[in-house]
Amino acid sequence: MPSEPVIARADESSIAEAARHLAAGRLVAFPTETVYGLGADATQGEAVARIYAAKGRPSFNPLIVHVLDLDAAGRLAVLPPLARRLAEAFWPGPLTLVVDRRPDCPLSELVSAGLDTLALRAPDHPVARALLAAAGCPVAAPSANRSGHVSSTRAEHVADDLGDRVAMILDGGPTAHGLESTVLDARTDRVVLLRPGAVPAEVIEATLGLRLVRPAEDPCLPHSPGQLESHYAPRALVRLDAWDVRPGEALLAFGTPLATTGPMRNLSPGGDPIEAAANLFAALRALDATGAASIAVMPIPDDGLGEAINDRLRRAAVGRR
Ligand code: TXA
Ligand code: MG
Repeated sequence: MPSEPVIARADESSIAEAARHLAAGRLVAFPTETVYGLGADATQGEAVARIYAAKGRPSFNPLIVHVLDLDAAGRLAVLPPLARRLAEAFWPGPLTLVVDRRPDCPLSELVSAGLDTLALRAPDHPVARALLAAAGCPVAAPSANRSGHVSSTRAEHVADDLGDRVAMILDGGPTAHGLESTVLDARTDRVVLLRPGAVPAEVIEATLGLRLVRPAEDPCLPHSPGQLESHYAPRALVRLDAWDVRPGEALLAFGTPLATTGPMRNLSPGGDPIEAAANLFAALRALDATGAASIAVMPIPDDGLGEAINDRLRRAAVGRR
């Protein structure tokens, strides 16, 4: 990646170039009507892994996937009637809907951090929409800031924070809202407000003619998306830092695999943490599906995304809460 931030005024040719970067698996920052997003092609696992690496967050949080419209959303996720009504009323716009992934969803499992759900939104910014149209793929994009820093509302903020980690920053001027999208869990008729944001809850309630459920009202719900407890956890036991494979165990390998005759998935034969992150959730699911009682996990160095991978594996080892 270039060490100098490449800020380009958004026009037809820079947007076409940005789309080519996305197709090549690189990161592009772009304006939305809320804040700047740090985008990657959501179908490419390694591109999505690069988002987590760039943000410098030592754990995986699910990301928002940006699409052009309801039709594009329907190809990725199951849209119950209320989710459809919400999208019809507020898209394009700063409303994100968490819905169930379709079984044939072509997106990387890493965008959902291994969950069966997907957060979708159709942004209402001409540059974001032109980029989505040019790229022709759903674009995963969290706010374009390093973990722990504030969201970027101008291209220069992105350059200061992430300039050396993106292929290109599309400059569309300051963003209109400066506040992130409202996030709703719209999987059932009990629509839950996961994150207050640019669309006020009262406006959504008036449109739907029903009350949104606040997580604080229900002890069974996570209190904020950041505290999301419903992480993907395998059914099998997870044994970390394994130096051997015991009878009946499946092996989750990293680098040169341990000897085994049982089921095995290698996160990255060459020991690349980006590749390993891209493969993590699909590999865990595949090994879990073999019915093995336990999964032996080879040691993974804490370098780069290794820290986030180890964080997730430790949670998996502790099991469901
Ligand atoms: O305005 C916005 O939403 C900006 C622009 C770039 O679109 N994006 C943004 O993304 O704020 P991010 O990654 O910073 O915030 C995504 C939020 C997080 O709170 C995350 O936990 C939640 O959405 N989220 C994403 N996928 C989810 C899922 N499957 N289930 C529950 N929460 C989810
Ligand atoms: Mg953020």
